[in-house]
Amino acid sequence: MKLVKVFSGLALTASVLLLTACGSGQKEDTSLKDIQDKGTLTVAMNPEFAPFEFKALVNGKDTIVGADVEIANAIGKELGVKVKFSSMSFNNVLASLQSGKADIAISGISATKERAKVYDFSESYYESVNVVIVKKSDLSKYTSTADFENASVATQKGTIQEAVAKDQLKGAKVVSLVQNGEMINELKSSQVDAVVFEKPIAEAYVAKNDDLAIAEVKLESSDSDAYAVAMPKGSTALKEKIDKVIKELKDSGKIDQFVQDAYDLSVSGAE
Ligand code: ARG
Repeated sequence: MKLVKVFSGLALTASVLLLTACGSGQKEDTSLKDIQDKGTLTVAMNPEFAPFEFKALVNGKDTIVGADVEIANAIGKELGVKVKFSSMSFNNVLASLQSGKADIAISGISATKERAKVYDFSESYYESVNVVIVKKSDLSKYTSTADFENASVATQKGTIQEAVAKDQLKGAKVVSLVQNGEMINELKSSQVDAVVFEKPIAEAYVAKNDDLAIAEVKLESSDSDAYAVAMPKGSTALKEKIDKVIKELKDSGKIDQFVQDAYDLSVSGAE
């Protein structure tokens, strides 16, 4: 009787050990090695988001450019691989990491706590501040968040701006659209009354559309809204490399320079 107990006890210990071994085996981190073996880093983005990613004519060729593109290129250089950009709508950008269509995502993505449960994020590289764009002729109508009651407000589908608009512009009717250009067109044609964007994106659109302006309305953001590079969960080795690149780019002031240069390019009409 006693012996049986000892044996089953041993068997239990052995199977626990076995399970633990398998568990850690499954989670072996090949994030960095896989990319280096392929020789290509595929980056998911939604290039309708100047100054971070947008299309511009470069030497007569339609090219994806912007601050996020520069960051991706710096990461590619550090890893010693080629960089390939994969364009898609923003609401597919993060999911493309799960399906394996892309290795990383750089798309002005806010590293929210909710997203961080599913994806790994690098160190953040840009603070996010939300603003509201309205028609210039409506500027005096919208001076506080309360003025948006019953207004229709457009936000990009899958972005944090959906929640920002719902939570902070109380009583507004929030419309989610896939394309940012469509939101701007709807605002210009008065189908919606306002659009919520982060500041540099709003500034780039306003600079190109003199019938639009940024409203004098203060919106809150949280620290975890800052932009970061997204990776599949468990990409520890890859994250270490990417964090190193981000830190260098931030410390040397290069990120701010990338954003400024891309902004200048976008408003110069090259888009
Ligand atoms: N920062 C916001 C978010 O993560 C908006 C990002 C939209 N990016 C884009 N490329 N359209 O939800």
